[in-house]
Amino acid sequence: MIRTFLAFFVLISNVILAQNKLNLIPYPQKVESLQGEFIIPETFVLNGNLPKEETEYFKKRIGSQLKFQYAQKSGGIHLTNSMIPPLSPADAEQKKEYYSIEIFPDQIHVKSYTKQGYFLALQTLTQIIEQFKEAKKIPAMKIEDQPKFAWRGMHLDVCRHFFTVGEVKQYIDYLAMYKLNTFHWHLTDDQGWRIEIKKYPKLTQIGSKRKESMIGAYVDNTFDGKPYGPYFYTQEQIKEVVKYAQDRHITVVPEIEMPGHALAALSAYPELACTKGPFEAATKWGVFDDVFCPKDETFTFLENVLDEVMKLFPSKYIHIGGDECPKTRWKECAHCQELIKKNNLKDEHGLQSYFIHRIEKYVNSKGRKIIGWDEILEGGLAPNAAVMSWTGVNGGIEAAKSKHFAVMTPGAYCYFDHYQGDPQSEPNAFGGFTPLDKVYSYNPIPSELNAEQTKYIMGVQANLWTEYILDFKQVQYMIFPRLMALSEVGWGTSDPKNYKEFENRVINQFKVLDKMKVNYAKSIYNITGKVIPSNNGIAYELSTSQNSNGIRYTLDGTDPSVNSKTYQSAVQIPNSLTIKSAYFEDGQLKSAVSSQQFTISKTTGKAISLEQQPSENYSFGGAFTLVDGIIGNIKQLGKTWLGFQGKDVVATIDFGQKTAFSEVYFNTLENKGSWIHLAKSAKIFVSDDGKNFRMIKEIATAEIQNAKGKIRLNVGTQNAKYLKVNIENAGIIPAGNPGADSKAWLFVDEIGVN
Ligand code: ACM
Ligand code: ZN
Repeated sequence: MIRTFLAFFVLISNVILAQNKLNLIPYPQKVESLQGEFIIPETFVLNGNLPKEETEYFKKRIGSQLKFQYAQKSGGIHLTNSMIPPLSPADAEQKKEYYSIEIFPDQIHVKSYTKQGYFLALQTLTQIIEQFKEAKKIPAMKIEDQPKFAWRGMHLDVCRHFFTVGEVKQYIDYLAMYKLNTFHWHLTDDQGWRIEIKKYPKLTQIGSKRKESMIGAYVDNTFDGKPYGPYFYTQEQIKEVVKYAQDRHITVVPEIEMPGHALAALSAYPELACTKGPFEAATKWGVFDDVFCPKDETFTFLENVLDEVMKLFPSKYIHIGGDECPKTRWKECAHCQELIKKNNLKDEHGLQSYFIHRIEKYVNSKGRKIIGWDEILEGGLAPNAAVMSWTGVNGGIEAAKSKHFAVMTPGAYCYFDHYQGDPQSEPNAFGGFTPLDKVYSYNPIPSELNAEQTKYIMGVQANLWTEYILDFKQVQYMIFPRLMALSEVGWGTSDPKNYKEFENRVINQFKVLDKMKVNYAKSIYNITGKVIPSNNGIAYELSTSQNSNGIRYTLDGTDPSVNSKTYQSAVQIPNSLTIKSAYFEDGQLKSAVSSQQFTISKTTGKAISLEQQPSENYSFGGAFTLVDGIIGNIKQLGKTWLGFQGKDVVATIDFGQKTAFSEVYFNTLENKGSWIHLAKSAKIFVSDDGKNFRMIKEIATAEIQNAKGKIRLNVGTQNAKYLKVNIENAGIIPAGNPGADSKAWLFVDEIGVN
C-alpha cells in the first residue's frame, strides 16, 4: 500500500515539473523529479573541495540573498561537488561542458568532468535559487545537462562605437549568465583601430580617432561634428579582459579585419594601401574602397600585428575578417595586377583568396587557425579555415560540404543590430526586423546537410554591430532579451513550437535583469500588427504576448490612452487612416503606443505574385508587402520594403474584376553606401486574362532619378483585371561606387493604383 502511494506521488511530481518548466535559460537537456524538497538554509554550507574561483563567482552572483560558509570539518554540507576523471582525451573534449545537479532533501550535489562543467552547473543553480528563494525550498530533482553546440558566441563591435573595459566585462558576465562560451571581439574597422600594437604605435595614436561621426539614419547623411577618440585598449587592458573571460570559462576570439575594412589602419600607415593616400578613419558607416594592398610590406605588417595579437589571445581561432572587400583599388593597381598574373590567379577574387591563404599559412605556422566571414570562400577557401556564415546560410553549407568548420550567424536571425519590435516604438537601429521569436526559431543546422556534414557546424553566434548603438545602455537594449533566445538555440533545447512557454521564462528573467539595472528591451509587450487580406481589402490584426483583452486602439490618429476601443478581432481598414494601439493592464498603459499609417489604393489587399523572391533578410511579409497599404518607412527596411539583390521586381496583381485606374505608383530607395540603387527602368502592363499583357507605360533611368525614386505615373484611362509591374534592378554596381562590381540592391515598398 505504501509502495503504491509513493509511486503515485513520484508520478505526480514528475508531471508537475514537466508542466511547469523551471525558470531556466537555457533549459537543460534533462530534468527529473526526485522525492522531497531541499529547504534553503539561512547559511549555505559549502564543501571545502569545490573549485575555488568558480565558487567565489557563484557566491558573488547570488550576492546578499544568501549567506555562505565553507564547511568546517564538523559542519553540515549543502553544496558538494565531484570531479569525474575523463576516460580519454576525446571523452574530455566531449564532456568538458557536461554537468549534473542532484538536489536531495539534505544536500545539493554537482558532478562535472571539468571546472568549466562545474561553472555551468553553478549558473543553473543560481537560476534555481532565484526561482525558489521566496518559497525557501527547492523540489528535489536531478538535472543532467550538456550543450549541443561547442561554439555559442556573442560578438561586439567596439570600432563604430567604443566600450570601456568595465563595459566589456559586464558584457562577458551576460554571456556567462546564459552559458555562452565565446566572445568575438571586433577590434579593427574603418572607423577605428582599438587594440594597442607595440610595433606600430601609430595604429592607436592616429587610427583610434576620427574627425566626427554619422548620426541618425544613414540616409540623412548627417554628422555630429565632434571628434571621436582616441579610444583603444592597451595590451594590459586586453590581458585583463582575456583573464576575466577565462575566469568565466569564455574564450575571447579577436578579430583583425583584412583585406577590407582597413581605413583606420591606412590612416596610420598609408603605405599599406594601393594608392598614396592620405587616408582618414571613416566618419560614416558602410564599405570603403581603400583596402590593404597585397604587397610584401603589408603581409609583414599584418604578420607582426598578428604576432602580438596571438600573444594576447590564447584562442584556437583568430578571426581575420575577410568580408566586404571592394576590388576597385586592386583593379587599378599595377602591383595587384602583376601579382594576379604572376600567381596565375583568375581575377581580383582570386587575389582575395591569395591574401587569405597567405595569412592562413602564417597563422597556422603559429599553431592557430583562422576563421573569417563568408567572403573568405571567394576564389577558393584556405585549407584549414573556418567560415562564419553571415550573409545567409550558404557560406556555412558550402564550408561544411567541403569539410570545413562553420559558425552560423545569418543576418536574418542573428544580427542584433536589427529592430526587435515595431521600429516606430524602438530606438534608431540599423534596419531589418529580428524579434525574439525569430531568433528563437533559428536552427543552426541547415537542412541541406547530411549527418556527416552536420558535424562541421560548430555552433551559432549573434553579432552586435554598433553603428547606431551610442552607449552601453543601448548595447543592453539590443542584446536583451534576444541573447536568451540565442543561448537556448546554442544549447540545443529551444522549442519554437512552444515559443510562448519560452517567453514566460524570459519574463521571469526580467526580474533578474531589473535587479542588475540592465536596460533590456520590453518590445515583447508591445502590440504587433499584421495586415491580412479581408473583404477584398485589408484588415489589421493586433496581438500582444500578454492578454489580448488589454489591447485598445483608435482609428483617428489620437492617443489610445484617452478614448479608445477595446480590441476584439482584426480591424477592417476601409480607407487611408492611422491606427494607434497599446497594451493596458488595469487601465495602466504597459507598452509603447504603436502607430501605423495606411494608404489605401485599388491594389490594396489584392492577390499578388512575384516572379522572383526577395532576399531572405528583406522579405518579411513576402509579396503581400507590396499591396498591404503600408508605404515604406526607411526605418523598416525588412518590414515595409522588400529587398532584391541583383534581381528585378516582376509583380502581377489580380484585381479580381475589371478595375478602372489612371495612376500607378511605387517607391524605390537609394542608399549607395549600402549598395542600394534606384531602379534602372520600369514597365507597366495590363491584361484581362492574366496571360496576354499589353505595355501601357515605360519609364527610363533619367526619370526615375529625377523623381528620386518616388514614382507616380499617369497611365491614361485604364480598365483591366490584371496589372503587371516590371521594375528593373540597377544590375552590377558601376566603378566609383561603394560595392563596385557587386550586385545592386533594389528596394520597393508598395505598388498602388488610383
Ligand atoms: C558583416 O556583417 N559585414 C560580417
Ligand atoms: Zn594594390
